[in-house]
Amino acid sequence: MHSSELTHADIVDLLTTVPAGDVYDRADKVRQAALGSDVHLRGLIEFSNICRNDCLYCGIRRGNKGVTRYHMDDDELVETARRAVDIGFQTIVLQSGEDLHYDANRMCRIIERIKAMDVALTLSIGEREYGDYQAFRNAGADRYLMRIETTDVDLYHRLNPGMSWQRRHECLLMIKELGYELGSGIMVGLPGQTVESIADDLLYLKSIGVDMAGIGPFIPHPGTPLAHEQGGTLEQALRTMAIMRLLLPDINIPATTAMESLHPQGRIMALQAGANVVMPNVTEGEYRRLYELYPGKICVNDTPIHCRTCIGLKIQSIGRTIGQGRGGHISRKNNIQQ
Ligand code: 5AD
Ligand code: FES
Repeated sequence: MHSSELTHADIVDLLTTVPAGDVYDRADKVRQAALGSDVHLRGLIEFSNICRNDCLYCGIRRGNKGVTRYHMDDDELVETARRAVDIGFQTIVLQSGEDLHYDANRMCRIIERIKAMDVALTLSIGEREYGDYQAFRNAGADRYLMRIETTDVDLYHRLNPGMSWQRRHECLLMIKELGYELGSGIMVGLPGQTVESIADDLLYLKSIGVDMAGIGPFIPHPGTPLAHEQGGTLEQALRTMAIMRLLLPDINIPATTAMESLHPQGRIMALQAGANVVMPNVTEGEYRRLYELYPGKICVNDTPIHCRTCIGLKIQSIGRTIGQGRGGHISRKNNIQQ
Protein backbone atom coordinates (compact mmCIF):
# COMPACT_ATOMS: atom_id res chain seq x y z
CA MET A 1 0.00 0.00 0.00
CA HIS A 2 1.33 3.42 -0.99
CA SER A 3 0.98 4.94 2.47
CA SER A 4 3.39 2.39 3.95
CA GLU A 5 6.28 3.92 2.01
CA LEU A 6 6.47 6.97 4.29
CA THR A 7 10.02 8.22 4.84
CA HIS A 8 11.56 9.56 8.04
CA ALA A 9 11.03 13.11 6.74
CA ASP A 10 7.38 12.37 5.89
CA ILE A 11 6.81 11.04 9.41
CA VAL A 12 8.36 14.11 11.03
CA ASP A 13 6.11 16.24 8.85
CA LEU A 14 3.04 14.25 9.91
CA LEU A 15 4.10 14.58 13.56
CA THR A 16 4.59 18.32 13.41
CA THR A 17 3.05 20.29 10.54
CA VAL A 18 0.09 18.37 9.11
CA PRO A 19 -3.12 19.24 11.06
CA ALA A 20 -3.84 16.53 13.62
CA GLY A 21 -7.40 15.99 12.37
CA ASP A 22 -6.12 15.24 8.86
CA VAL A 23 -3.68 12.63 10.18
CA TYR A 24 -6.44 10.98 12.23
CA ASP A 25 -8.82 10.91 9.26
CA ARG A 26 -6.23 9.35 6.98
CA ALA A 27 -5.46 6.68 9.56
CA ASP A 28 -9.17 6.02 10.11
CA LYS A 29 -9.68 5.45 6.37
CA VAL A 30 -6.64 3.19 6.11
CA ARG A 31 -7.88 1.13 9.08
CA GLN A 32 -11.36 0.85 7.59
CA ALA A 33 -10.02 -0.26 4.19
CA ALA A 34 -7.59 -2.81 5.64
CA LEU A 35 -9.57 -4.18 8.56
CA GLY A 36 -13.18 -2.98 8.41
CA SER A 37 -15.28 -1.98 11.41
CA ASP A 38 -14.32 -4.69 13.85
CA VAL A 39 -12.82 -3.84 17.21
CA HIS A 40 -11.18 -6.80 18.91
CA LEU A 41 -11.28 -7.09 22.69
CA ARG A 42 -8.59 -8.62 24.91
CA GLY A 43 -9.07 -9.35 28.59
CA LEU A 44 -6.07 -7.98 30.47
CA ILE A 45 -5.03 -9.63 33.75
CA GLU A 46 -2.48 -7.76 35.84
CA PHE A 47 -1.30 -10.71 37.88
CA SER A 48 1.75 -9.35 39.70
CA ASN A 49 3.08 -5.88 40.46
CA ILE A 50 6.42 -7.23 41.69
CA CYS A 51 9.27 -6.14 39.44
CA ARG A 52 13.02 -6.63 39.52
CA ASN A 53 13.57 -3.54 37.33
CA ASP A 54 13.76 0.10 38.25
CA CYS A 55 12.53 1.99 35.18
CA LEU A 56 12.43 5.68 36.04
CA TYR A 57 8.94 6.24 34.59
CA CYS A 58 7.14 3.26 36.04
CA GLY A 59 4.97 3.32 39.17
CA ILE A 60 5.76 -0.31 40.05
CA ARG A 61 9.54 0.13 39.75
CA ARG A 62 11.51 -1.78 42.37
CA GLY A 63 12.56 1.47 44.05
CA ASN A 64 9.01 2.67 44.70
CA LYS A 65 8.62 1.69 48.34
CA GLY A 66 5.11 3.14 48.50
CA VAL A 67 3.59 0.23 46.57
CA THR A 68 1.77 -2.64 48.27
CA ARG A 69 3.10 -5.61 46.34
CA TYR A 70 1.04 -8.64 45.32
CA HIS A 71 1.11 -11.60 43.10
CA MET A 72 -1.78 -13.90 42.39
CA ASP A 73 -1.29 -17.55 43.12
CA ASP A 74 -1.60 -19.92 40.19
CA ASP A 75 -5.18 -20.99 40.86
CA GLU A 76 -6.34 -17.43 41.39
CA LEU A 77 -4.78 -16.39 38.08
CA VAL A 78 -6.34 -19.28 36.18
CA GLU A 79 -9.73 -18.59 37.80
CA THR A 80 -9.51 -14.91 36.84
CA ALA A 81 -8.86 -16.02 33.26
CA ARG A 82 -11.79 -18.43 33.42
CA ARG A 83 -14.17 -15.69 34.50
CA ALA A 84 -12.93 -13.46 31.68
CA VAL A 85 -13.52 -16.27 29.19
CA ASP A 86 -16.98 -16.82 30.68
CA ILE A 87 -17.94 -13.20 29.96
CA GLY A 88 -16.86 -13.61 26.35
CA PHE A 89 -13.19 -12.74 25.95
CA GLN A 90 -11.42 -14.84 23.34
CA THR A 91 -7.97 -13.44 23.99
CA ILE A 92 -6.45 -13.32 27.46
CA VAL A 93 -3.41 -11.14 28.12
CA LEU A 94 -1.27 -11.95 31.15
CA GLN A 95 0.73 -8.93 32.24
CA SER A 96 3.06 -8.42 35.20
CA GLY A 97 6.23 -6.80 36.39
CA GLU A 98 9.37 -8.87 35.84
CA ASP A 99 8.56 -11.25 38.68
CA LEU A 100 10.74 -14.37 38.67
CA HIS A 101 8.45 -16.14 41.14
CA TYR A 102 6.78 -17.18 37.90
CA ASP A 103 9.63 -19.30 36.62
CA ALA A 104 9.37 -21.06 33.27
CA ASN A 105 7.84 -24.18 34.75
CA ARG A 106 5.15 -22.33 36.73
CA MET A 107 4.29 -20.14 33.73
CA CYS A 108 4.03 -23.15 31.42
CA ARG A 109 1.55 -24.91 33.74
CA ILE A 110 -0.55 -21.71 33.86
CA ILE A 111 -0.39 -21.32 30.07
CA GLU A 112 -1.53 -24.90 29.55
CA ARG A 113 -4.49 -24.46 31.89
CA ILE A 114 -5.63 -21.26 30.18
CA LYS A 115 -5.08 -22.65 26.68
CA ALA A 116 -7.40 -25.53 27.64
CA MET A 117 -10.16 -22.87 27.67
CA ASP A 118 -9.75 -22.56 23.88
CA VAL A 119 -8.70 -18.91 23.69
CA ALA A 120 -5.72 -17.00 22.32
CA LEU A 121 -3.12 -16.24 24.98
CA THR A 122 -0.79 -13.26 25.08
CA LEU A 123 2.10 -12.84 27.52
CA SER A 124 3.46 -9.49 28.64
CA ILE A 125 6.01 -10.40 31.31
CA GLY A 126 9.19 -8.79 30.06
CA GLU A 127 12.68 -10.01 29.28
CA ARG A 128 13.45 -13.71 29.67
CA GLU A 129 15.93 -16.24 28.36
CA TYR A 130 15.44 -17.79 24.92
CA GLY A 131 14.66 -21.12 26.58
CA ASP A 132 11.80 -19.55 28.55
CA TYR A 133 10.28 -17.93 25.47
CA GLN A 134 10.56 -21.29 23.71
CA ALA A 135 8.95 -23.15 26.61
CA PHE A 136 6.04 -20.67 26.80
CA ARG A 137 5.50 -21.03 23.08
CA ASN A 138 5.55 -24.82 23.29
CA ALA A 139 3.09 -24.65 26.18
CA GLY A 140 0.70 -22.80 23.85
CA ALA A 141 1.29 -19.04 24.21
CA ASP A 142 0.30 -17.36 20.94
CA ARG A 143 1.41 -13.76 21.29
CA TYR A 144 3.93 -11.70 23.25
CA LEU A 145 3.88 -8.00 24.07
CA MET A 146 6.94 -6.06 25.03
CA ARG A 147 7.37 -2.42 24.22
CA ILE A 148 10.80 -1.23 23.13
CA GLU A 149 9.72 2.03 24.87
CA THR A 150 12.10 4.18 22.76
CA THR A 151 14.74 3.54 20.11
CA ASP A 152 16.87 6.41 21.38
CA VAL A 153 19.48 4.15 22.94
CA ASP A 154 20.96 6.81 25.24
CA LEU A 155 17.51 7.81 26.46
CA TYR A 156 16.62 4.16 27.01
CA HIS A 157 19.71 3.63 29.14
CA ARG A 158 18.99 6.75 31.19
CA LEU A 159 15.40 5.65 31.82
CA ASN A 160 16.08 1.95 32.38
CA PRO A 161 19.05 1.62 34.73
CA GLY A 162 20.75 -1.77 34.58
CA MET A 163 18.99 -2.73 31.37
CA SER A 164 20.33 -2.99 27.83
CA TRP A 165 18.52 -1.70 24.75
CA GLN A 166 20.37 -4.22 22.60
CA ARG A 167 19.26 -7.07 24.84
CA ARG A 168 15.62 -5.96 24.67
CA HIS A 169 15.85 -5.69 20.89
CA GLU A 170 17.29 -9.21 20.76
CA CYS A 171 14.42 -10.49 22.92
CA LEU A 172 11.94 -9.06 20.42
CA LEU A 173 13.76 -10.81 17.57
CA MET A 174 13.72 -14.11 19.48
CA ILE A 175 10.01 -13.78 20.14
CA LYS A 176 9.34 -13.15 16.45
CA GLU A 177 11.59 -16.02 15.41
CA LEU A 178 9.74 -18.42 17.72
CA GLY A 179 6.53 -17.74 15.80
CA TYR A 180 4.69 -15.63 18.33
CA GLU A 181 2.60 -12.76 17.08
CA LEU A 182 4.84 -9.93 18.18
CA GLY A 183 3.53 -6.85 19.92
CA SER A 184 5.75 -3.95 20.76
CA GLY A 185 5.41 -0.20 21.08
CA ILE A 186 6.59 2.99 22.68
CA MET A 187 5.71 5.79 25.03
CA VAL A 188 5.36 9.29 23.66
CA GLY A 189 6.40 12.39 25.58
CA LEU A 190 9.33 10.92 27.50
CA PRO A 191 11.71 13.57 28.85
CA GLY A 192 14.27 14.37 26.18
CA GLN A 193 12.46 12.44 23.43
CA THR A 194 12.46 14.25 20.07
CA VAL A 195 10.12 14.01 17.07
CA GLU A 196 13.05 12.65 15.07
CA SER A 197 13.41 9.82 17.56
CA ILE A 198 9.67 9.09 17.48
CA ALA A 199 9.95 8.82 13.68
CA ASP A 200 12.86 6.38 14.21
CA ASP A 201 10.69 4.40 16.64
CA LEU A 202 7.90 3.96 14.11
CA LEU A 203 10.32 2.85 11.39
CA TYR A 204 11.93 0.47 13.88
CA LEU A 205 8.57 -1.13 14.75
CA LYS A 206 7.93 -1.60 11.05
CA SER A 207 11.40 -3.06 10.48
CA ILE A 208 11.03 -5.78 13.13
CA GLY A 209 7.68 -6.80 11.67
CA VAL A 210 5.37 -6.11 14.60
CA ASP A 211 1.95 -7.73 14.41
CA MET A 212 0.68 -5.30 17.04
CA ALA A 213 1.89 -1.88 18.17
CA GLY A 214 0.83 -0.15 21.38
CA ILE A 215 1.50 3.56 21.65
CA GLY A 216 0.64 5.58 24.72
CA PRO A 217 1.47 8.88 26.35
CA PHE A 218 4.03 8.93 29.15
CA ILE A 219 2.22 10.01 32.35
CA PRO A 220 4.50 11.05 35.23
CA HIS A 221 3.98 9.02 38.39
CA PRO A 222 4.41 10.86 41.73
CA GLY A 223 6.30 7.94 43.30
CA THR A 224 9.05 7.98 40.66
CA PRO A 225 12.07 10.13 39.83
CA LEU A 226 10.16 11.54 36.85
CA ALA A 227 7.32 12.85 39.05
CA HIS A 228 7.88 16.46 38.00
CA GLU A 229 8.40 15.93 34.28
CA GLN A 230 5.87 17.14 31.72
CA GLY A 231 4.47 13.94 30.30
CA GLY A 232 3.05 13.33 26.86
CA THR A 233 -0.13 14.82 25.45
CA LEU A 234 -3.08 12.95 24.05
CA GLU A 235 -2.62 14.67 20.70
CA GLN A 236 1.03 13.60 20.42
CA ALA A 237 0.14 10.02 21.29
CA LEU A 238 -2.84 9.91 18.90
CA ARG A 239 -0.81 11.38 16.08
CA THR A 240 1.98 8.89 16.60
CA MET A 241 -0.49 6.02 16.72
CA ALA A 242 -2.24 7.26 13.57
CA ILE A 243 1.07 7.39 11.68
CA MET A 244 1.80 3.84 12.83
CA ARG A 245 -1.46 2.87 11.13
CA LEU A 246 -0.39 4.62 7.91
CA LEU A 247 2.91 2.70 7.98
CA LEU A 248 1.33 -0.68 8.79
CA PRO A 249 -2.25 -0.74 7.49
CA ASP A 250 -3.22 -4.22 8.67
CA ILE A 251 -1.60 -4.73 12.09
CA ASN A 252 -3.45 -4.65 15.39
CA ILE A 253 -3.28 -1.31 17.18
CA PRO A 254 -4.84 -0.89 20.63
CA ALA A 255 -6.58 2.20 21.88
CA THR A 256 -4.45 2.39 25.00
CA THR A 257 -5.69 2.79 28.54
CA ALA A 258 -3.16 5.59 29.13
CA MET A 259 -4.93 7.62 26.42
CA GLU A 260 -8.22 7.33 28.28
CA SER A 261 -6.46 8.34 31.49
CA LEU A 262 -5.72 11.71 29.85
CA HIS A 263 -9.22 12.20 28.42
CA PRO A 264 -12.57 10.49 29.17
CA GLN A 265 -13.03 9.71 25.46
CA GLY A 266 -9.38 8.89 24.79
CA ARG A 267 -9.96 5.33 23.61
CA ILE A 268 -12.87 6.33 21.37
CA MET A 269 -10.74 9.06 19.83
CA ALA A 270 -8.03 6.44 19.25
CA LEU A 271 -10.51 4.05 17.60
CA GLN A 272 -11.35 6.88 15.21
CA ALA A 273 -7.69 7.60 14.47
CA GLY A 274 -6.40 4.17 13.46
CA ALA A 275 -6.88 1.83 16.43
CA ASN A 276 -8.79 -1.48 16.14
CA VAL A 277 -8.23 -3.17 19.51
CA VAL A 278 -9.21 -2.45 23.14
CA MET A 279 -7.83 -4.29 26.14
CA PRO A 280 -10.33 -3.97 28.99
CA ASN A 281 -9.00 -4.77 32.42
CA VAL A 282 -10.33 -8.04 33.83
CA THR A 283 -8.22 -7.98 36.98
CA GLU A 284 -10.40 -8.22 40.07
CA GLY A 285 -10.66 -6.43 43.41
CA GLU A 286 -7.82 -4.52 45.05
CA TYR A 287 -5.25 -5.64 42.51
CA ARG A 288 -6.47 -3.16 39.90
CA ARG A 289 -5.59 -0.21 42.09
CA LEU A 290 -2.25 -1.69 43.13
CA TYR A 291 -1.11 -2.16 39.53
CA GLU A 292 -0.47 1.52 39.08
CA LEU A 293 2.07 2.09 36.31
CA TYR A 294 0.95 5.73 36.07
CA PRO A 295 -1.51 7.87 38.06
CA GLY A 296 -5.11 8.46 37.01
CA LYS A 297 -5.49 4.93 35.65
CA ILE A 298 -9.10 4.35 34.66
CA CYS A 299 -11.52 1.70 35.93
CA VAL A 300 -9.67 0.99 39.19
CA ASN A 301 -12.96 0.59 41.06
CA ASP A 302 -14.78 -1.32 38.34
CA THR A 303 -15.42 -5.01 37.74
CA PRO A 304 -14.60 -7.06 34.63
CA ILE A 305 -18.23 -7.28 33.54
CA HIS A 306 -18.74 -3.56 34.07
CA CYS A 307 -15.77 -2.72 31.83
CA ARG A 308 -16.80 -5.26 29.22
CA THR A 309 -20.29 -3.75 29.01
CA CYS A 310 -19.03 -0.16 29.11
CA ILE A 311 -16.55 -0.60 26.30
CA GLY A 312 -19.03 -2.61 24.23
CA LEU A 313 -21.51 0.28 24.39
CA LYS A 314 -18.84 2.84 23.55
CA ILE A 315 -17.73 0.85 20.52
CA GLN A 316 -21.31 0.49 19.28
CA SER A 317 -21.98 4.19 19.85
CA ILE A 318 -19.47 5.07 17.12
CA GLY A 319 -20.89 2.58 14.65
CA ARG A 320 -18.21 -0.04 15.08
CA THR A 321 -18.66 -3.75 15.71
CA ILE A 322 -17.13 -6.11 18.27
CA GLY A 323 -14.85 -8.50 16.41
CA GLN A 324 -15.80 -12.16 16.59
CA GLY A 325 -13.07 -14.76 16.96
CA ARG A 326 -9.56 -14.27 18.25
CA GLY A 327 -8.64 -11.25 16.19
CA GLY A 328 -5.06 -12.13 15.39
CA HIS A 329 -3.00 -10.21 12.83
CA ILE A 330 -4.87 -10.82 9.58
CA SER A 331 -1.78 -11.59 7.51
CA ARG A 332 -1.04 -14.39 10.00
CA LYS A 333 -4.56 -15.75 9.90
CA ASN A 334 -4.22 -16.27 6.17
CA ASN A 335 -0.73 -17.65 6.63
CA ILE A 336 0.80 -15.01 4.44
CA GLN A 337 4.40 -14.49 5.37
CA GLN A 338 5.73 -11.05 4.56
N1 5AD B 1 3.15 6.35 31.78
C1 5AD B 1 2.66 5.73 30.69
N2 5AD B 1 2.94 4.45 30.37
C2 5AD B 1 3.74 3.76 31.21
N3 5AD B 1 4.22 2.51 31.15
C3 5AD B 1 4.99 2.30 32.22
N4 5AD B 1 5.05 3.39 32.99
C4 5AD B 1 4.27 4.34 32.37
C5 5AD B 1 3.96 5.70 32.65
N5 5AD B 1 4.41 6.33 33.74
C6 5AD B 1 3.99 1.63 30.00
C7 5AD B 1 5.30 1.12 29.42
C8 5AD B 1 5.19 -0.38 29.61
C9 5AD B 1 3.69 -0.59 29.64
C10 5AD B 1 3.24 -1.86 30.26
O1 5AD B 1 3.23 0.51 30.39
O2 5AD B 1 5.36 1.43 28.04
O3 5AD B 1 5.80 -1.12 28.59
FE1 FES C 1 -13.87 0.15 32.58
FE2 FES C 1 -15.44 1.78 30.94
S1 FES C 1 -13.91 0.32 30.42
S2 FES C 1 -15.54 1.42 33.12
